[in-house]
Amino acid sequence: MEVIIKATQEEACRLGARIVAEVVRTRPHPVLGLATGSSPLPLYRELVRLHREEGLSFAHVSTFNLDEYVGLDPAHPGSFRTCMEENLFRHIDLPRDRAHLPDGLAKDIPGHCAEYERMIAAAGGIDLQLLGIGSDGHLAFNEPSSSFRSRTRIKTLWTETRRANAGPFGSPEKVPHHCLTMGLGTIMDARRCLLLGFGRGKAQAVRDMVEGPVTASCPASLLQFHEHTIVVVDEEAASLLQHRDYYREVYAGKPDWQRWE
Ligand code: GLP
Repeated sequence: MEVIIKATQEEACRLGARIVAEVVRTRPHPVLGLATGSSPLPLYRELVRLHREEGLSFAHVSTFNLDEYVGLDPAHPGSFRTCMEENLFRHIDLPRDRAHLPDGLAKDIPGHCAEYERMIAAAGGIDLQLLGIGSDGHLAFNEPSSSFRSRTRIKTLWTETRRANAGPFGSPEKVPHHCLTMGLGTIMDARRCLLLGFGRGKAQAVRDMVEGPVTASCPASLLQFHEHTIVVVDEEAASLLQHRDYYREVYAGKPDWQRWE
């Protein structure tokens, strides 16, 4: 796991966008795993800027989002489809038929989840998976106790997660109780993961993920077993990391060809 500490969320997301852009520029048919939540929003803004000002094209990209609410119309303001449309899709040249999210209105949920996995495999697997982290260490909507080998499936959201995601719904009671989410096994199959965590509220989860024992009680700690995960955090989210000076030293000493900035 590579841990990079930046001063602010904006700086961290600028770096994150360069990592994404490198994949988009160098792979013939790039496959991106995308995340919602507030953490990646400045990264999406930077991708839009790179598209508009530096000609970064998404014409050959396929995307697969991590999760979606069950029972919500895709046009609902709280849906993750709407979040992606507003913050990224409508501003870039990504062909819509290659922008995938789980379908929260699917009639046959297990069948649809299996099909989502098949579509990811048919696209060639995910080159780079963007991730945020919940304050309880969840990844996508894999809450604590999620199976390490889980695949895309339906999950129940706990009250705290529904509260944290209440923004566009107006109140936590209006947040759906269920979601479809890629599993931890699905995420672990991505060739690279890029996890973003910001603010004091994420400090304990970041500490548990990076330096704690690998345990289903902190689903993100499974990333310790991932072959190539980059964690980009701000100072506040890094504040409980015991080895933060070491991570800083490693990043400062990287050769130019391994850096994105
Ligand atoms: C939700 C999403 C996760 C996200 C998390 C943190 O639960 N399903 O993918 O990582 O929220 O969100 P935020 O980035 O807003 O803190």
